[in-house]
Amino acid sequence: MSRHASEERRWWQAAVIYQVYPRSFADGDGDGVGDLAGLLARLPYIASLGVDGIWVTPFQPSPQVDQGYDVSDYCGVDPLFGTMQQFDDLLAAAHALGLRILLDVVPNHCSSEHPLFRAAVAAGPGSLERELFHFEDGPDGDTPPNNWQSVFGGRAWSRADPSSETDLQWYLHLFSPQQPDWNWRNPAVGDYFEGVLRFWFDKGVDGLRVDVAHALVKAEGLPDAASTTTVTDGLRSNAQVSDQEEVHEVYRRWRRVAASYSPERVLVGEVNLEPARAARYTRHDELHQAFAYAFVKLRWDAEAWAAVGTDLEVGRREHGAPPTWALENHDVVRSATRFGGGERGALRARAGLLAILGLPGGAYIYQGQELTLPEVDVPLEARVDPMWTRGGVSRDGARVPLPWTVAPDNAFGFSPSGAAEPWLPAPAEWGSRSVEAHQQDGGSTLHLVIAALELRKQLFEKEVLQPDDGGTWRVEDGGLLVCERNDQFLVAVAMGEGSVRLPAGDVVVSSSPLTAEGLLPPDAAAWVLRG
Ligand code: NOJ
Repeated sequence: MSRHASEERRWWQAAVIYQVYPRSFADGDGDGVGDLAGLLARLPYIASLGVDGIWVTPFQPSPQVDQGYDVSDYCGVDPLFGTMQQFDDLLAAAHALGLRILLDVVPNHCSSEHPLFRAAVAAGPGSLERELFHFEDGPDGDTPPNNWQSVFGGRAWSRADPSSETDLQWYLHLFSPQQPDWNWRNPAVGDYFEGVLRFWFDKGVDGLRVDVAHALVKAEGLPDAASTTTVTDGLRSNAQVSDQEEVHEVYRRWRRVAASYSPERVLVGEVNLEPARAARYTRHDELHQAFAYAFVKLRWDAEAWAAVGTDLEVGRREHGAPPTWALENHDVVRSATRFGGGERGALRARAGLLAILGLPGGAYIYQGQELTLPEVDVPLEARVDPMWTRGGVSRDGARVPLPWTVAPDNAFGFSPSGAAEPWLPAPAEWGSRSVEAHQQDGGSTLHLVIAALELRKQLFEKEVLQPDDGGTWRVEDGGLLVCERNDQFLVAVAMGEGSVRLPAGDVVVSSSPLTAEGLLPPDAAAWVLRG
């Protein structure tokens, strides 16, 4: 096989994917909620960035308790978002524009409205139907089977039928009570999900992002957890639900399914574990990629970036899969705010984005990151995130509808005219951060991203960058973070207080202009080609 063909075969290793959160991207039908029609109409915008594809978070039928992560039909389209015909049109249009499409699969739990869960509740204790989920007896009708806590707050168990005097069983839900967990120790669940994968792969979908990939299989016998702290940090403090060895069998089977298609379909996991444990999910016969999850939590701290980068590099060397970088997604505080807020936070978010686009591996851009949108302080009465309503933090601030126009009309161009109010309100200054504002400003982050992605393509063509490059990380005096990708290319980020001298070479792009002395100013990143 030619070098080009084999690289094409492994396109995901170096792909840049744009994450679309459909309810906040573009509203086509005017109900105030983004949808597939809106996404289809705005697809040329995404293609104009120069990314390789999009990941679309759930649009399948769902009561929307967790904004679609409570799925009641894995192989459909919720009327809120459109029709299957519109999805087919979207897929065809994306492919015509050279964009791959990845969808979300949510295998840890479904909606309590899923027909199989409803049937299980109705069938009662001892039935085969209940074995698809974790139904258990507690010591009594008031005490759950174990001490596990829900990620969204409160206990992880609810009574199947609280009003019944004879059915005293409880069911497990690591998230909200409307999201019952599947029992992955029952082979019927694996068979069911193979059907789901095949349904979307048969349609031509290029890959799937796997929700809560590390938590599908629970410890045998569902023993108590050592800690009962409410976990809002990805189940890490409950070792009984996280990273069980048997979960790897699930991904071996899925990899076989993905590899049976041509071109091979891609699996990218939300593996919220330490880098060394997460890397084990990308062994050669498991997931193709796992998000460098530690990065979405990082603050503006050179030592921390270098430490996480080095850990991820160890994982890459051991298992061969390059990291998949992401600084933002719909669950975490926007990087402009996480990095300090205000003008400085925005500069740092811009630098951080340029940096990850140069790092070895794949990268994900969350919608609005190319506009350096900050986290919005959504008014209390407008917040809808179940994490918030159950007592945790609110993730609504990263999910406010995207501003398309400078003028505030129609929710800053998010909706068509005459539309209902958007599902989350936008702040007054949203127009100055809009796509239109960025398009009009030649120095905007949007233009920087387009230029960087174009340059990235050229550097791959010239083989300066290779899909399987590694990364050697260090922090130089003055807080300069450096990741040497190979002997021709490095990424540098000025994370200290002053301007710093860059390693020798040509700066091919930087997020802020160099000083008159040729130094990289604070809060800026640069790509350096070495002689
Ligand atoms: C991770 C998803 O990204 C998040 O939005 C969701 O609430 C949980 N998984 C549960 O599905």
